[in-house]
Amino acid sequence: MMLEHIISMRDFSRDEIDIILEKAIVLEPVARGGKSTLLSGKILATLFFEPSTRTRLSFDTAMKRLGGEVIDFGALEASSVVKGESLADTIRVIGGYADAIVLRHPREGAARMAAEYSNVPIINAGDGAGHHPTQTLLDLYTIMRESSLSGLRIALVGDLKYGRTVHSLAYALSLYHADMTLVSPQQLKMPDVIKKDLEKQGANVRETTRLDDVIGDIDVLYVTRIQRERFPDPAEYLKVSGSYRVTEELLKKANENLKIMHPLPRVDEIDHAVDRTGFARYFEQSFYGVPVRMAVLAMAMGVE
Ligand code: NCD
Repeated sequence: MMLEHIISMRDFSRDEIDIILEKAIVLEPVARGGKSTLLSGKILATLFFEPSTRTRLSFDTAMKRLGGEVIDFGALEASSVVKGESLADTIRVIGGYADAIVLRHPREGAARMAAEYSNVPIINAGDGAGHHPTQTLLDLYTIMRESSLSGLRIALVGDLKYGRTVHSLAYALSLYHADMTLVSPQQLKMPDVIKKDLEKQGANVRETTRLDDVIGDIDVLYVTRIQRERFPDPAEYLKVSGSYRVTEELLKKANENLKIMHPLPRVDEIDHAVDRTGFARYFEQSFYGVPVRMAVLAMAMGVE
């Protein structure tokens, strides 16, 4: 299977997702410290117009463990963007240097636009409050490895309005017929356009503001950070910051096989004491970014 641009989870069928997850299983031993030559001679360009730790470094690690190389755009201030170069021109130029481009940008729709100008695959690593498809693929992989995708009962908690990871994840989960509960403050509910999409897929979705009410009836708790940088008004952020906090006390009501995930970075939404419990899976989750991004890169670069 050859992947074209990877912009949104809507570009994937369930069969295509399953192929990527299976490929990631095969590549996991390489991610754990092996070495492969699968992508030798290939170059990946990483362009981050917004901060990143895991996404940038896991793409970098994935590429290098597969024998490929990475060129990084570096800090914005050091690039021609400060001279006024457009994203379209930047993409056209970098497409001449690399075999694929990973792009993170603060503007929703930026990756879709970049794809129109690119002669190499664009991988959307987050476009504003829009989508983050490779995060979703690693989230699905984590669920598959640590819990189960079949018959899954999951709660997505926190900032469902601005959180791009949950926008992509909710859509993908509908393909797996998951039983989904959306837990957020009133002001941060999942946008209607996404809910409509979920309905069209026949998804089984409920909404609530109370985490307490669902904690005993789920297999996976997917926690997100309130996306401070997306709030037009800091006072509005202050009203909702700290809305949810996962503590050992709350987890007394959880089912014993519950797994807690978080795309990270966390601020204060998961108490550090929870890290030591058997519920926590967020650090495993960030590791799984490596095998999954290996699979994505191999497919984007047309290597079987
Ligand atoms: C997320 C993002 O950038 O959307 N981080 C990530 O890629 N792991 C989540 C966040 O920033 O809260």
